[in-house]
Amino acid sequence: MATASTTQPAYKIIDHTYDTVVVGAGGSGLRATMGSAEAGLKTACITKVFPTRSHTVAAQGGIAASLKNNTPDHWTWHMYDTVKGSDWLGDQDAIEYMVREAPAAVYELEHAGVPFSRNADGTIYQRPFGGHMQNMGEGPPVQRTCAAADRTGHAMLHALYQQSLKYAADFFIEYFAIDLIMDNGKCVGVIALCMDDGTIHRFRAKAVVLATGGYGRCYFTATSAHTCTGDGGGMVLRAGLPLQDMEFVQFHPTGIYGAGVLITEGARGEGGYLTNSEGERFMERYAPSAKDLASRDVVSRSMALEIREGRGVGPNKDHIFLHLDHIAPEVLAERLPGITESGKIFAGVDLTRQPLPVVPTVHYNMGGIPCDFNGRVMTIGPDGNPETPVEGLFAVGEAACVSVHGANRLGSNSLIDLVVFGRATGLYLKDNIKPGEAFEELPKDSADLALTRLDHFRNAKGGSPTAQIRAEMQRTMSQHAAVFRNDELMAEGKDKLAATYKRMEDVHVSDRGLIWNSDLVETMELDNLISQATVTMHGAHNRKESRGAHAHEDFPNRDDANWMKHTAAWFDGWGGKGGAVRLDYRPVHEYTLTDDVEYIKPKARVY
Ligand code: FUM
Repeated sequence: MATASTTQPAYKIIDHTYDTVVVGAGGSGLRATMGSAEAGLKTACITKVFPTRSHTVAAQGGIAASLKNNTPDHWTWHMYDTVKGSDWLGDQDAIEYMVREAPAAVYELEHAGVPFSRNADGTIYQRPFGGHMQNMGEGPPVQRTCAAADRTGHAMLHALYQQSLKYAADFFIEYFAIDLIMDNGKCVGVIALCMDDGTIHRFRAKAVVLATGGYGRCYFTATSAHTCTGDGGGMVLRAGLPLQDMEFVQFHPTGIYGAGVLITEGARGEGGYLTNSEGERFMERYAPSAKDLASRDVVSRSMALEIREGRGVGPNKDHIFLHLDHIAPEVLAERLPGITESGKIFAGVDLTRQPLPVVPTVHYNMGGIPCDFNGRVMTIGPDGNPETPVEGLFAVGEAACVSVHGANRLGSNSLIDLVVFGRATGLYLKDNIKPGEAFEELPKDSADLALTRLDHFRNAKGGSPTAQIRAEMQRTMSQHAAVFRNDELMAEGKDKLAATYKRMEDVHVSDRGLIWNSDLVETMELDNLISQATVTMHGAHNRKESRGAHAHEDFPNRDDANWMKHTAAWFDGWGGKGGAVRLDYRPVHEYTLTDDVEYIKPKARVY
């Protein structure tokens, strides 16, 4: 039952008490919500958009699991491909957990009502995806990606939302989470703004699960929705906790040129291929074995090189063609209806007859909130401890860094990450929280950070509109932390972002109200984005090697002797600290979860 009280600054607060509060209602948030509620825990899910509009809805090509419906497969092959895809930065204990749980997680979705595409024998249809191969990388592409045409995320989100409702979780929809409530290093709740009526809500909880997605919108063009502003990561940094491996930003090879809209890798899985201005299938040169189905970092770099060397297509030679015009129109209609429509709407192209203009586009953050495979958030240190759990705080999905994706995620490993670790977190909560157990008192200053920030931005009367500062940050990220980076560019990028962060002191918010104040919410989102953009640039500048998605032109090789370690980054931003970044590192887990499989030793990564 909600009760009202007053705090500083003078905002009326509506109080709630829950065992579990999940922030975010994408695939991972809904799966964690469902698990917690199913366990009998009093569960709330706070979400800034209606659940079925969360960004998971945009996931197209599918979800990886070694079901072996269309080709031979084995979980150890999936594990090998994921480790290789991660460029050996992924933690192999967590990877083993994910790939072993993957088939059960997909069948669970099937039983929850996801309308997967089917093979003639009724089994779930699986397509090839980049970097997924047979026989520990030695064989041809494996068909491992379970698909619901090219609308897999959409189908999953609807099924998971229905299941969460079935287990009687409470949804707080169009609520914007402002800040965590921390008490002596422990998380005890979260403060949120109801955007619809402007009321402030304080959620006391034994567990707060951050499922807030990525922060792709710190770049100018991204396949991510405009809502992908990394709100959980921003809250974690303000709570004085680190983010992990933020320098690893994935560029999807096929965003529609000029629009950034995703064209699924499933398009190449179904036989699509890329060509340059000479009509050449250039991937044969860069990845002779996997070709267009090499991992994303490899394909994106190859495209960027073709463009840089003058073999891009179009009047400005600044993009590449994706061909699907050789595929039977019935196959396109059945397996890729969504991208057929997107091609028409966003590029004016009929895929059955014309090539589609595409370019590598920001798509996914491998980095995020450090946590283990039970979803427990970890801080790095102190006193030589590589990882210490933060009591009461959990993270799942793209917001989290478990780390299963390391330096580069394989396509279709994101959807499986969402459900496997969303479920694992629900199970952990079930085992560790007793329904009805007493709650601790909240600290007296529980709402101070959130309300001081809210009030500060609500009354910001400077000369720089939010949109101007955001555009400045996005330009810097797009120019200085792109597919290829170098020392000089990133050093300059750090200076530019520091200046942009300083400009936040001069931010201007026009709407002083609280009811549906999108100006205010976008400013708080920008505050979340800019701290994460800054630690991304610093982490990237400090990593003197190339690994996965971090292609450093001054250090073109992977350096396992010095850099097989995870970056941890802290940002001292709020409260006049000026935005200083501190970096530290923790070792990669060079061990597996069980004795069933041996640690996969690093080797050269060729496709
Ligand atoms: O290409 C795609 O369909 C995207 C999938 C993913 O990022 O996992």
